[in-house]
Amino acid sequence: MGVVAASALLGPLGWMWHASLVPDTYSVMEMGHAEFGGGPGGATAAHQHDHQHDHGSVAHVGGSQPVDLVSLAGPRGRPADVRETLVAREEQIRVASEHTVEGYTLNHDSPGPEIRAKRGQLVEVRLVNESVSDGVTLHWHGVHVPNAEDGVAGVTQDAVQVGQDYVYRFVADQTGTFWYHSHQDSHEQVPKGLFGALVVTPAEPSGPSDAVDVLAQVHTYDGRRTVNGRVGASRVPAEPGARARVRVINTDNGLMRTWVSGAPYRVVAVDGVDLNAPEPVRDTAFALPAGGRVDLELSVPTDGSAARVGLGGATALLLGPEDASAPPGAEPSASVDLLDYGSPAAVAFDPDEADRRFTYDIGRRPGFLDGRPGLWWTINGHTFPDLPMYVVSEHDVVRVRLENSSGEAHPMHLHGHHALVLSRNGRPVTGSPWWTDSLDIDDGDSYELAFVADNPGIWMFHCHDLPHAVEGLVTHLAYEDVAEPFVVGGPAGNRPE
Ligand code: C2O
Ligand code: CU
Repeated sequence: MGVVAASALLGPLGWMWHASLVPDTYSVMEMGHAEFGGGPGGATAAHQHDHQHDHGSVAHVGGSQPVDLVSLAGPRGRPADVRETLVAREEQIRVASEHTVEGYTLNHDSPGPEIRAKRGQLVEVRLVNESVSDGVTLHWHGVHVPNAEDGVAGVTQDAVQVGQDYVYRFVADQTGTFWYHSHQDSHEQVPKGLFGALVVTPAEPSGPSDAVDVLAQVHTYDGRRTVNGRVGASRVPAEPGARARVRVINTDNGLMRTWVSGAPYRVVAVDGVDLNAPEPVRDTAFALPAGGRVDLELSVPTDGSAARVGLGGATALLLGPEDASAPPGAEPSASVDLLDYGSPAAVAFDPDEADRRFTYDIGRRPGFLDGRPGLWWTINGHTFPDLPMYVVSEHDVVRVRLENSSGEAHPMHLHGHHALVLSRNGRPVTGSPWWTDSLDIDDGDSYELAFVADNPGIWMFHCHDLPHAVEGLVTHLAYEDVAEPFVVGGPAGNRPE
């Protein structure tokens, strides 16, 4: 039945169905409606301009001569300090000795290689696609890379096809725990293994040289939860009394609780940002959002036993001498609340002097998504693709009010920036400054966030429960006068979600 006939027969329902259809190829700049948050741009940029360009048609918001997104790239003209080549393949991943899953690897492994850099170093990663038929990219989750290095298929680049390669270059300006993952068909490729860790340490070593610095990449392959690719509890050799930093990365789609048994611990960093004056806690867990990272610091017990870092349940790291006995790892019921953890400290901008104020209100209602009837996520009352495009100018102080009444939690991730959490449900943060790039918004909660728009580009702002992103929980933050040459769909088959 044709669209016209369907519309005529079904009236408003047919219109809704038709209005929900998503074209095969489109620019994210042409999706939905621009919001200006009370800042400039509303008058001049209510319409989006099209310019002829060597990539074809280029969309942007703003009144001035646009800057091509492709030019917002990392340094090219000098040698890299850290170089990696990552070869992506479709192949089997061995999860437990008797269990393999069909998935994706980087250099024949999943997780892919751990990339380590010192702050200030230039990182160069060459991604080679040997056999991933849908194409691949690498997104640097939590890193404020220049926009063209952000690795989002159809937004900042084309998906890298079999036989092609792509070089990412950026200066590692933030210390902390980050990760990388494909942002092509991410709801497929990330769960099936296309990810790894990026750790940036201070330029000069801080702390004792015998300290243990260990990753805990938590990932569920085909229903089996693993840490660093292994099921169950893994041992990490450590001397009695040694100080240890455990960098926990939640690469799954849901919240995961982590805790330490057998020793007190401190939450020293969240999403790659150090907390100010974190106090020791015991019998308390930390609820880590999907996509988020937390660094836990503890001292290995001096009595020869091991400390156990619980990762959601039976999955654990045991830190101590070889064969040390480990405590049972009962899950504590209490959780660290970052609203009042650590001590206040100055931040470099005034959130009360906001240039733009936006609302990101997540709900759910029956309707159509690309012609399919169902119960779909809404943002500010609209369903995909009629979603807000949050428009900012460089240097703006931006406030976002995130609300959720959708019946489920959503781990919200903003690319290219960290936001300062100001309050939850009206209760202000009274502890350490809390910077986040991956924030779990529980059903019924609301958060006030603020950040400085200091990284021009077109940035995704989406739910990191990746199937929700496919279901339309995706928006973008667009700087004025940045031209978007890429399209979702198109010859490269870009499918960022
Ligand atoms: Cu970790 Cu848009 O992703
Ligand atoms: Cu979600």
